[in-house]
Amino acid sequence: MNIPKKALAGIALAATAALGLTACGSNAGNAPAASGSASAGEVSGEITVYNAQHDTLTKEWVDAFTKETGVKVTIRQGSDTELSNQIVQEGQASPVDVFLTENSPAMAQVENAGLFADVDKATLDQVPAEFRPSTGKWTGIAARSTVLVYDKNKISDDQLPKSMLDLAKPEWKGKWAASPSGADFQAIVAALLELKGEAATEEWLKGMKENFKAYKGNSTAMKAVNAGEVDAALIYHYYYYGDQAKTGENSKNVTPYFFKNQDPGAFLSVSGGGVLKSAKNAAAAQAFLKFITGKQGQEVLKNGTSFEYAIASQVDANAKLTPIKDLQAPTVDPAKLNSAKVTELMTKAGLL
Ligand SMILES: [Fe+2]
Repeated sequence: MNIPKKALAGIALAATAALGLTACGSNAGNAPAASGSASAGEVSGEITVYNAQHDTLTKEWVDAFTKETGVKVTIRQGSDTELSNQIVQEGQASPVDVFLTENSPAMAQVENAGLFADVDKATLDQVPAEFRPSTGKWTGIAARSTVLVYDKNKISDDQLPKSMLDLAKPEWKGKWAASPSGADFQAIVAALLELKGEAATEEWLKGMKENFKAYKGNSTAMKAVNAGEVDAALIYHYYYYGDQAKTGENSKNVTPYFFKNQDPGAFLSVSGGGVLKSAKNAAAAQAFLKFITGKQGQEVLKNGTSFEYAIASQVDANAKLTPIKDLQAPTVDPAKLNSAKVTELMTKAGLL
């Protein structure tokens, strides 16, 4: 295990050095062994990851991590809420060491149940504060932007909505699609709730119910736009870029439109990773989280096929994507996204 240990220490040093360039006055230049409780070089054994992230992305992370450390990783695949509910139900008896999601609300649910351990400081130091909760109980691992994909033949530039809130206006009746049952869409509603409050969110959901067409899944909603069934769909960006990178057959009549201007529709949803208090192999679990938010893990996002945003260790976004800073996303503390309230409001509006 000598060689992998050295390799991993080298990565940690490189990431720390990179951070040191901008983290003026911080202790980022200190030896990494002193900054985290679990040294990534000393891990062994196995961990279980409950994975709600795209299985292909997590597989890439896991394969690279196992190669570096020799730690065997068992993945259990499910959706955000499926797995967060399961973790809460299983409690201390859960076999899970690490939980990874697509969106923040499921992380917040597990955090609120008091089941997460503190994330190692060395890991938090790799992730800019805007991409992790203020509590430090979990961290962002990737991000996805809200986007309106639309058919240029049906909607002209001057007809595009200035704000996501406009989609509740009468002129948008029957014109847009969404997948309300998915955690992706519910995270957008959670951001709206956090940014504009309950009354405005209820009002918007009422308008949505009047105006939108329901599809199951974001890719199905995008396909409906592509096929001319509906003019636009409110989804996440990577469905479009992922399809374009393959054959483009499900997005050839589709154009992405970003709301920008700190609009609720410019919400950047943070995918989360956390280590459970009850983890059987806490050291390896912490090392895994450090690895995926480190340079090598984030470069999987930059160079792979997920088209999700890299957010940590100063790794740039995939070159095909609009850089994060140009998305002008609103500031939202991911720990404050309230999935229970969202479910309540969406049920009340007849959307679930
Ligand atoms: Fe997704």
